[in-house]
Amino acid sequence: MSSIEPEVKQRITELRKLLQQASYAYYVLDNPIMEDAVYDRLYRELQDLELQYPQLITVDSPTQRVGEKPATHFNSVRHNIPLYSLENAFNVDELKTWEQRWRRQTSDIGAAEYVCELKIDGSALALTYENGILVRGVTRGDGVMGEDITQNVRTIRSIPLRLNLDGWENLQRVEVRGEAFLPLDIFEQINVERQKNGESLFANPRNAAAGTLRQLNPKVVHQRKLDFFAYTLHIPDSEEVTIVNSQWHSLELLQRMGLQVNPNKCLCPSLQEVAEYYQYWDTERLNLPYMTDGVVVKLNSSSLQTQLGFTQKFPRWAVALKYAAEEAPTRVENIAVNVGRTGAITPLAEMHPVQLAGTTVSRATLHNSDRIAQLDIRIGDTVIVRKAGEIIPEVVRVLLEPRPPDTQPFVMPTHCPVCGQPVVKPIDEAVTRCVNTSCPAILKGAIEHWVSRDALDIRGIGEKVVQQLVDKELVNSVADLYELTVEQLCELERMGEKLAVKLVDVIANSKKQSWSRVLYGLGIRHVGNITAQTLTKKFMTVEQLVSAKVTDIAAIYGIGTEIAESVYQWFQSSANQSLIARLQCAGLQFANSPETETAIDTNQKFAGKTFVVTGTLPTLKRNEAKELIQKAGGKVTDSVSKKTDYVVVGADAGSKLTKAQTLGINLLNEAQLLELLQEEI
Ligand code: IVH
Repeated sequence: MSSIEPEVKQRITELRKLLQQASYAYYVLDNPIMEDAVYDRLYRELQDLELQYPQLITVDSPTQRVGEKPATHFNSVRHNIPLYSLENAFNVDELKTWEQRWRRQTSDIGAAEYVCELKIDGSALALTYENGILVRGVTRGDGVMGEDITQNVRTIRSIPLRLNLDGWENLQRVEVRGEAFLPLDIFEQINVERQKNGESLFANPRNAAAGTLRQLNPKVVHQRKLDFFAYTLHIPDSEEVTIVNSQWHSLELLQRMGLQVNPNKCLCPSLQEVAEYYQYWDTERLNLPYMTDGVVVKLNSSSLQTQLGFTQKFPRWAVALKYAAEEAPTRVENIAVNVGRTGAITPLAEMHPVQLAGTTVSRATLHNSDRIAQLDIRIGDTVIVRKAGEIIPEVVRVLLEPRPPDTQPFVMPTHCPVCGQPVVKPIDEAVTRCVNTSCPAILKGAIEHWVSRDALDIRGIGEKVVQQLVDKELVNSVADLYELTVEQLCELERMGEKLAVKLVDVIANSKKQSWSRVLYGLGIRHVGNITAQTLTKKFMTVEQLVSAKVTDIAAIYGIGTEIAESVYQWFQSSANQSLIARLQCAGLQFANSPETETAIDTNQKFAGKTFVVTGTLPTLKRNEAKELIQKAGGKVTDSVSKKTDYVVVGADAGSKLTKAQTLGINLLNEAQLLELLQEEI
């Protein structure tokens, strides 16, 4: 193999450093130092160089954040140091009691400093850095054992893959703890998306963060834009590099090493300042772009922390001073039922308006009939509503005292309130559903989903147009969209001929959209756009997907049995099969086009290609090379013939090389083979 020019290595190092600095400035300091376009250009330059010299790729390269392969499961691992929980205090009096207690447990030390940090409502993570490189990211789990989710942790942009250890180069091992969380706007977007896909909503950003971290597909995690604040630094005792003598000092070091530390922190000389800090954030926290449910109060001195130690569950030197969840009583005026796109029938409490956490609340989801029965919520009841995670209002409990004498338990309708067809409730599911595919409620939702941006992206068909198309019975299935005429569209309110012509044109244009968008557009439960992409990478045509068994579908990385079952069932329905047939007739894409086919699956890159491997390769064993080719869909044979596409040649290749040369067959060395495998087309 040819040796690599030193300039190339130098440029790669330089690019990585520049990109790392730019990311740090952008994600951690919130102070960009580089235009997006410049970042993209440098990133591409690095990508190109790494493609050319795959042997120079390192795990901490900015290009390596998102792994290609989804996980099938996460390994359970033991934490080097357990992750403790925190004792709660709910007011300043309880905080004083806590202070008196810790003072009794140590020799009298007079004044003590406290560090106040915001308590981020997310999911705790333990990160391990070895020689500055992020090697492990583990969930809290039960505090003793957690799950190894390193692949997912690497996708979080504010977590550096390499620490800045300037001046600390000999620090072999560093453990960082902190909170991964979802900013509120992202949390809301995720819920909108989940609602569209017929999935249950996350009640609060904490659940959403935990659910995201446990996603098997790192691409989904990357897309969800988790963030991270570091709050604990552990340097093993043996590493006598420094003396971290206080929590405040730890926070400074974490920041210097390149981790994001929440800027809202305070070093307080006494409990008085702690109380003021807590009161200040009680209202101010509502202006933050993330959720906090309290203030964590920690004794600043490390030696005091060591003296006090831990109980079975908590450190004695820290306490979580929590904000009470906002709750208020109000009266249930009605229980309405809503039919969603997937036919899910959700009961909704319509209540006398009440002020909660700065907003007026008059509706709260009651989730499903099981939940209503469990709480026994009736029309006329006085209930306590709470903003779960200060976001989604929910009914917490019923106050039985003021219940009027004539109330009746709520009964879920046996028939869909929109189409009047009987509803179903599978025994093992909490949700009641309308299963009539021509139910106007389902139809409207299905069309809105079909035309949406990530699906067929048909601009100009909004909620109002959909409503009229369904109400006037011009459209009874998404396939009808492709038969709409200008005259029919002109029947709609505020629709002139010019607009109608344009709309027919836009609809016709959507026939060019990819198979993956079409699959997503069909609105199969649990099939979001990423899942649709994953499925269409494997199943190149709809016929392949229709004939797939649940086990074939579930065998794909990142696809669980729930998704597989849902996809399988959907394609079993004869109504759905006729829909596909109609859409196929209309000219929609149900197969990957030749351009996408090659682009689509790096795993199937060598599909239809025949290889011969000969000679001794520099690093791979012959069998390993064969395996790599086969995994990429290629065929490996023993002898060279006209049908051979490539011969991979190592040292001392004999007659096979000569034959390949006579036949004019493409020759590859090991590096070129690896490069081809890496290539993203
Ligand atoms: S310190 C032994 N600091 O709150 C130290 N925890 O209810 C324990 N949390 O499991 C953790 N923000 O997930 C600490 N600034 C902060 C925090 C914080 C959020 C979480 C953490 C912990 C939970 C305890």
